[in-house]
Amino acid sequence: MENNQQKDIMTIDHMTMRFGGLVAVEDFKASIEQGEILGLIGPNGAGKTTIFNVITGVYKPTHGHVYLEDKIIDEYEPHFITHFGIARTFQNIRLFKTMTVIENLQAAMHYELANTKPDKVMNKWKGTKKEATDLWFWKSIFKLGYFKKEREQRERAEFILEKLGMLKHKDEPAGSLPYGEQRKLEIARALATTPKLLLLDEPAAGMNPSESVALMNLVRKIRDEFDVTVFLIEHDMKFVMGLCERIIVLDYGREIAMGKPEEIRSNPKVIEAYLGEEWKDVVVN
Ligand SMILES: Nc1ncnc2c1ncn2[C@@H]1O[C@H](COP(=O)(O)OP(=O)(O)OP(=O)(O)O)[C@@H](O)[C@H]1O
Ligand SMILES: [Mg+2]
Repeated sequence: MENNQQKDIMTIDHMTMRFGGLVAVEDFKASIEQGEILGLIGPNGAGKTTIFNVITGVYKPTHGHVYLEDKIIDEYEPHFITHFGIARTFQNIRLFKTMTVIENLQAAMHYELANTKPDKVMNKWKGTKKEATDLWFWKSIFKLGYFKKEREQRERAEFILEKLGMLKHKDEPAGSLPYGEQRKLEIARALATTPKLLLLDEPAAGMNPSESVALMNLVRKIRDEFDVTVFLIEHDMKFVMGLCERIIVLDYGREIAMGKPEEIRSNPKVIEAYLGEEWKDVVVN
């Protein structure tokens, strides 16, 4: 970095998401710094997953905007958002269970075969939807370098699996893996799209304590070695407090606090709405 100022990779600006009469997220503002691990916590139904769904283009916000670096992305469909460098995992595992582990990663990369690398789209994309759509269309017509790319993708998939300690499972059906490994495979598949920003929705859900500690270390390693920024939702407070550098707390669709883990766990509003007293003095890490 040329100067000491951290660059924001994403800005969410006064975003509101309504479903009919229900306000799921109200006037949400956040900046995500390049390279940080940011947490999003709050009670069930607080609007956390909805924020991920807006970022990834599943829902168009009722008000406000989402910027990736300095570009507005909330008008784009999810496949464009993937191209622009945002990948996610889901609260409930969504793998192709009968396909092998490596095929799950290759399926995630498949869009590249018919098109082009995300960074190339981004370079040529100057901000209008029409330009991006035209580029997408013409690249799809000329399926150049298809076979070479397929080989490169297999090698990249193996590289990701190796980094995540999953290479030994590469030819096993995804559905036959133990639960914790399936959750890791979801992350591997998200990495297959070469994201800049990785969104993890409850990655430690259902894991036992030793698996969740191993996952904490793995997420740090992924951030460092894949050079991604991580934004994660989690109810496992040991995981969140030990891993995240900053945490945003949501309650009834509104931010009630934002800060470092030690600030969050002693914040009276957060204790009342979500955490309770038990986390106040706990030493994590
Ligand atoms: N597509 C939708 N249509 C209508 N209501 C929705 C839709 N998606 C979410 N909601 C509602 O928005 C609110 C926020 O839901 P959301 O899934 O974002 O919560 P959450 O914070 O992720 O909760 P949890 O911790 O249980 O996963 C809930 O009241 C939910 O029922
Ligand atoms: Mg959720």
